[in-house]
Amino acid sequence: MILVTGATGTIGRHVVELLLARGVPVRAMTRAPERVAAADGLEVVAADFDDPASLRRAADGADAVLLITAPATPTERHDLAMIDAAREGGAGRVVKLSAIGTGERYAGGVIGEWHLRGEEALRDSGLPWTILRPSVFASNMLWWADAIQSGTPIADPVDGARQGVVDPRDVSAVAAEALTGDGHDKALYTLTGPAPISLGEQALILGEVLGRDIAVETAPPPDAAWAAGIAWSRDGHNAVVTGDVERLLGRPPGTFRRWAEEHRDAF
Ligand SMILES: NC(=O)c1ccc[n+]([C@@H]2O[C@H](COP(=O)([O-])OP(=O)(O)OC[C@H]3O[C@@H](n4cnc5c(N)ncnc54)[C@H](OP(=O)(O)O)[C@@H]3O)[C@@H](O)[C@H]2O)c1
Repeated sequence: MILVTGATGTIGRHVVELLLARGVPVRAMTRAPERVAAADGLEVVAADFDDPASLRRAADGADAVLLITAPATPTERHDLAMIDAAREGGAGRVVKLSAIGTGERYAGGVIGEWHLRGEEALRDSGLPWTILRPSVFASNMLWWADAIQSGTPIADPVDGARQGVVDPRDVSAVAAEALTGDGHDKALYTLTGPAPISLGEQALILGEVLGRDIAVETAPPPDAAWAAGIAWSRDGHNAVVTGDVERLLGRPPGTFRRWAEEHRDAF
């Protein structure tokens, strides 16, 4: 049985579907179990990263754990608490969703410092581990659905820089493979789409798909906590594509155009 944390989110939701489709029993963790539809092979557990006792109950008896944390304010506490619970519960492996650039020193800061602390704790935990470092999700475009509808320009904090934007469904498929397949212990995978692409280019493609113009304007970083990562991306360091998705899934990663075509209705 696999415990999926962040199970109602972008990546976790799809991992749950993929595992159930393969007949793998899943325990989905959420703070709001009533929001999760019942399914064969699916158990839903109420737990909160800020409540260690609830994490121990969630991890009890799990063979593997998918660790997805998304704190509103960056903190490694959630990762550390879940790793402790996974160890106490006797998990056979933990797959952590991290982020590209984690640990790079740039512009006077450390990128993704809270993810870095989580990665380090996992490596030191004695548990078999796999770390996934995806690039920017194509689905971040959904944050702009209202602005796109109302014709408001969308904000580009990286000022036209290209990034290896990845379809989150590819990230989920790699996570499912890392949770169930062989040969992923102590592996760190950097997950990108097939080509670096700027937000302006994404807006052009999505605009073609939707049949409307989408304006983009340069904007400051949304929060000081992300400043180092945004400066790193703005200066071109995230214009990176890797072969990890194709190597792990046996097919090329999805393009942004395909993601846009398949999510037309969400806009
Ligand atoms: N977006 C990107 O471009 C990008 C790129 C690289 C890496 N990442 C990484 O991806 C991760 C986010 O994944 P995602 O986008 O799939 O998540 P998401 O869609 O933002 O969903 C967040 C999930 O976390 C759960 N959650 C939030 N606070 C919680 C708490 N206190 N206790 C228990 N569960 C809690 C939520 O569950 P409930 O509300 O149901 O409890 C929800 O399932 C982050 O670590 C981020 O750094 C993102």
